[in-house]
Amino acid sequence: MYHTEIGKDIIKAKLLLEKGELVAIPTETVYGLAANALDPLAVAKIYEAKNRPQFNPLIIHVADIDQLRKYVGPIPDDCIRLMQAFSPGPITFLLDKSDLIPDITTAGSSKVAVRIPNHPLTLQLLSSLLFPLAAPSANPSGYVSPVRADHVAQGLLGKIPYILDGGKSTVGLESTIVGFQDGDTLVHRLGGIDVEEIEKVLGKAVKISITHDAPKTPGQLKSHYAPRKKLIVGDIEKLITDFADKKLGIISFQHKYPYTIPQIILSEKGNLAEAASRLFSAMREMDNFDIDLILSEWVPEEGVGRAINDRLRKASH
Ligand code: TXA
Ligand code: MG
Repeated sequence: MYHTEIGKDIIKAKLLLEKGELVAIPTETVYGLAANALDPLAVAKIYEAKNRPQFNPLIIHVADIDQLRKYVGPIPDDCIRLMQAFSPGPITFLLDKSDLIPDITTAGSSKVAVRIPNHPLTLQLLSSLLFPLAAPSANPSGYVSPVRADHVAQGLLGKIPYILDGGKSTVGLESTIVGFQDGDTLVHRLGGIDVEEIEKVLGKAVKISITHDAPKTPGQLKSHYAPRKKLIVGDIEKLITDFADKKLGIISFQHKYPYTIPQIILSEKGNLAEAASRLFSAMREMDNFDIDLILSEWVPEEGVGRAINDRLRKASH
């Protein structure tokens, strides 16, 4: 057991990481649970603290493209273009790994997922380290990803020594994961950078390649991101009558429903980025209400709305 501290001390975070300890770090997407990606024993602690299946590989985080080059093989031109357009930012690249990356970090895969997060504290921390940070989302495996330091504490208190508090994650959804194969660009996980933006930069269509098996394919065990309460997505008016005998809560996109039950509106202005940044907090709040069932509606299937709907689908599985 650790006494888990929350603070803004980068030096403290650095010293702990250098000793092979875990530190939760803020990013613009969600908080990560970080360890020295080159140290197999440190990485093993991540799997243990999160109770994460060992076949589910980790993303490594670096400060800039120069650092990144050490840990990957040749970088395709399309990848360079996307890095120039979106990194630092909510996008992760799946590339051939170099021998420096131990197998436990990639769960035995010859590919490594790499990203440059866009958060000032974490970028400062990463530039001060001589190794990259392996970091999955800092939640117990299967639960909703944390977007605030206190969310991390709720799930990992006593299991890690330090949470670096960088405030609320601005994007609020995990990064988009992109891979490259035979000249094609594949999107393996929908996230903070939307498909339309990627296609605009590349000047061509990308393929969406999302599957639900580990370990070959990124991302997507179906049970990810679920709140404890059952969540059903669909037409709210209809669901309300279908489940009239239950205690209900509503997560809506923009509309305020005229019921006196717990209700969270993701964006009154109907702004998808704002809705994304509030989604995971809304799920956590619903878990804390005295209700049996969470009802939610789909958001428009465009831009980052697709990633929101993907998370709603997973949460309702
Ligand atoms: O925004 C994010 O990406 C956050 C922050 C902390 O950076 N991280 C994150 O990590 O969401 P995690 O572990 O919750 O999700 C990473 C996903 C997993 O679904 C994993 O299967 C996939 O990336 N992944 C990582 N490395 C991979 C690899 N070598 N091959 C295939 N999939 C990989
Ligand atoms: Mg996760």
